[in-house]
Order: sequence, then structure tokens, then C-alpha cells
Amino acid sequence: MSVICVIGTGYVGLVTGTCLADMGNQVTCVDIVAEKIEKLKKGILPIYEPGLEEMVHRNYQAGRLHFTTSYSEGLAASDFIFIAVNTPTGNGQGGADMRYVESAARSIAEELDHYAIIINKSTVPVGSGDVVSRVIHNNLKRSDITFAVVSNPEFLREGSALLDFQQPDRIVLGSSDPEAAYTVARLYMPLRAPIVTTDLYTAEMIKYASNAFLATKISFINEIAQICERLGADVKEVAVGMGYDKRIGHAFLNAGLGYGGSCFPKDVRALAHMADEAGLHPQLLHAVMEINHDQRRLVISKLTSILGSLRGTTIGVLGLAFKPNTDDMREAPAVDIIRWITSQGAHVRVYDPVASETGREALVREGVRLDSVTFCENAYSVAEQTDALVIVTEWNEFKSLNMQHVRSLMHRPVLIDGRNIYDGSEMHRLGFIYRAMGRGTGPAPTILPAGDSTALPALQPTLDLNIGD
Ligand SMILES: NC(=O)c1ccc[n+]([C@@H]2O[C@H](COP(=O)([O-])OP(=O)(O)OC[C@H]3O[C@@H](n4cnc5c(N)ncnc54)[C@H](O)[C@@H]3O)[C@@H](O)[C@H]2O)c1
Repeated sequence: MSVICVIGTGYVGLVTGTCLADMGNQVTCVDIVAEKIEKLKKGILPIYEPGLEEMVHRNYQAGRLHFTTSYSEGLAASDFIFIAVNTPTGNGQGGADMRYVESAARSIAEELDHYAIIINKSTVPVGSGDVVSRVIHNNLKRSDITFAVVSNPEFLREGSALLDFQQPDRIVLGSSDPEAAYTVARLYMPLRAPIVTTDLYTAEMIKYASNAFLATKISFINEIAQICERLGADVKEVAVGMGYDKRIGHAFLNAGLGYGGSCFPKDVRALAHMADEAGLHPQLLHAVMEINHDQRRLVISKLTSILGSLRGTTIGVLGLAFKPNTDDMREAPAVDIIRWITSQGAHVRVYDPVASETGREALVREGVRLDSVTFCENAYSVAEQTDALVIVTEWNEFKSLNMQHVRSLMHRPVLIDGRNIYDGSEMHRLGFIYRAMGRGTGPAPTILPAGDSTALPALQPTLDLNIGD
């Protein structure tokens, strides 16, 4: 059993603290937002993450998980101190804002009265481990205190964060103090995951390179989607056909509205910024960002190509969150799409299973007039009297709607499937004017089971590959 302090109770901090407590450790989570801590003590979570509420309650009641705003309380007797605070885009050029990490490091230094390993889980620019060391060193209240810094980037995905923490593909530990890295490795041993130990800079870079690669896969398939659409091929089936190649894989080849969320957009920007600052010209990263930005615009061009002017129309939007199974609205395509639609004089009706409240706040922050938006109780209510329906987030409940009923509720049967979740020929049969992302109208392909070339009934590709960051 170790004594652990986790700084920050957001998606990463709360999941990390709770899972470490669930492994039998004594964990105290510290946050500067008193309201969050008060709510957590009452069992109310600041975020939606499947399974997390139950795990927080269980470990809190077992006395293994504690919440406080006090660094001295959190740090007391801690062997490990995790930093899991936010690192949003900061300066005008796309670099990461390190203020929260530096402030956490200062607060640690002011209260630290024993040796501890400080583990950085926040995604930070290459070289930040040195910055954290320097800030702590310069602010220690006792000069005899020693400490080590280890970089341990986090790879969990919102929506499946508990499983990702408990069954990680790998754990990356970077430090200039190998002994400290091995001590952290022992803490993770029960997870039985491959552990990559490296130097600080390399560990920090592994996180950015991983996210940039996944974002590149998404922008790549979105570019292919546009070519498919123009030439009459179906990108969904192209992706299935590509994904069977082990060198390529199926994941992150879903054409759609592009990536959003709290990580990919800011991390690709920050990596490009680091490269720019180093005097390089990261062409691929800039192309990835440009394609991603344009992708969500396609909804507007698809709508106007069918409806003409949007002025006076009512457009239904299904989904607000940047991906299913989260209420996170950071850089969600829905915000841009709703802003563009309403700015053209249309009214929007919208529904999201869990992100209505965070969605409403995000729309207000982005200057969308809420009198142009009606928040509905369910997907069918959204469809009522609309001139078009747009699928923005691929929540499971949108995949099994009674589309005949949906069509009967609409004023005009226009369906823009931004996530390619419906079968085009079925939608045409139901009378929809159906537009998807990069899908032509060719015949459905047949996939024969391996090794059998005899005539078999046609199989539709059924891979469900909704994987986000
Ligand atoms: N969200 C993800 O899916 C994800 C995945 C991998 C990595 N990351 C990275 O992990 C980091 C945290 O991300 P997140 O999504 O959990 O952020 P978040 O915004 O959800 O949570 C950050 C928390 O830190 C708190 N905080 C800020 N400054 C503090 C301070 N000085 N002391 C104590 N608490 C403080 C905030 O109040 C907030 O509760 C980021 O660097 C992010 O890039 C996030």
C-alpha cells in the first residue's frame, strides 16, 4: 500500500486517484475549486464518466479515497504526488498553457516536508519536467528536502477511462532518476502492462507523437472520404478494407466530422508550435489541423446544397458532446456547427443524452444566442417539424431510432449523417434525402470469411469502431 496525492480532480485526476485507491492505496485528491471538492465529498461527481461514480463511492466509503482543497493535507506522508491539472492551449500561437502545472508545482514545494516522487500526468511540452523540477527546487521551504520528477503521460480515453487506466496498452515512465522511475513502475505492477522507461524529454514526446498520429489517421480518412464522395466510392467500406491490413488496423479510420475534445486539437497545435519554435516547418501537422477544421464545415455545405438558404429553417441536431459516453464539450464539432447554422438565420433543435447542460454552457461561451436553440427531451422531439436532421455525435441510442417515425415527424426529410451511422440505401427507401460523409452509392461489398471462396450470402461490414481520444 502506498500513500498517494493526486493534484487535480478532472477527467484524468479523478480517474487516476480513484483507480489507484481501488488498487488498495491511500489516495487524497486535491483541487483548487472548493465547490468541486465539497460536491465530491457528498458523492456528486464534477464529470460524467461511465462507472466512475460507483467506484468513487465505494472507495470513499472504504476510507481509501479522500478529497481536499488543502495541499498540506494532501501531501502529508505521500510517497507519490501526481500532477493531473489542465494544460489548455495558451498563447496565441497554439502552445500549451503551463500556468496550472507551474502553480501546482509551487504549491507542492511550499508544503513538501519529506522525500516524494512527483509524477507528471498532465500533457506538457517537451522539457516541462525540468521546469517542474526548477519551480519546486526554487520554492522549497526547507533546503534539506529532496524529490524526484517522473513523467508519466496519460493515454486514457474519456468514455472508457476506467478500463483504459486498469488495462493500459503501455505505461510510459521518463526520468533522469532511473531509481525513481522503477519505484513508480512498482506502483503500477498490479496492472501487468508493458512499461516503457525512458528519459524525461522522450516520455513527454511519446504523448504528443501518439496523439498527433491518431489525429493524422482521422484527418487522413477524412481526406479519403472527400475523394470517395467525389468519385463514387464508399469510405466506410474503404476503411474496413484497409483496416484488415495489420500494418494499418481498423481503429481511428472513421470518416466523419473530425476530431474534437480536450486532447487532440490542443495537443496537435502544441506539437506544431514546439516544432515551429524549434525552427522546423511541420507541414503534416498543419495539414491535419486544416483538414479537421474544414470537415465540420461540410455539414453546412451539405445542408445548403439541398435546402438553399437556411434562413427561416429549423434544423435538428443529434448530439452535443465531442464523442459518445462523455459530457465533455471541449472543442466539440457541435458548437461550431450550431453557431454556423444559427448565424445563417435558422433555428436549431438539439438533444444529447448527457451533455445538454455542459453543451448549453459551451454554446453560451461561444456566443450562440440561446433563443435560436431549443433543447429537447429526446431524439424524436428534436425531429419535430425540422427541415433537416444532422447527426453530430454517434451515441448508441441514435443508431437504433425508429427512422420511419423520425421521418414522419419532420417537415422535410433531409438527413445529414455526420458520423456515417445509417445505411444509405435503407434511408433512401424510407424516403430520406440522405447525405453521409464520403459515401458514394455503389453496391454493398461482400466480405467472405477467410479461406472460403464459395458463394455465401452478402455480409455487410459491421465493425463498430467508435474510438475517440
Ligand atoms: N481528458 C482526457 O481524456 C485526457 C487524456 C490524457 C491526457 N490528458 C491530459 O491530462 C491533463 C488533465 O486533463 P483533464 O481533462 O483531466 O483536465 P480537467 O480540466 O478535466 O481537470 C483539471 C483539474 O485540475 C484542477 N486544477 C487546476 N489547477 C490546479 C492547481 N494548481 N491545483 C489543484 N488543482 C488544479 C482544475 O480545477 C480541474 O479540476 C491535461 O494535460 C490533459 O491534456 C487528458
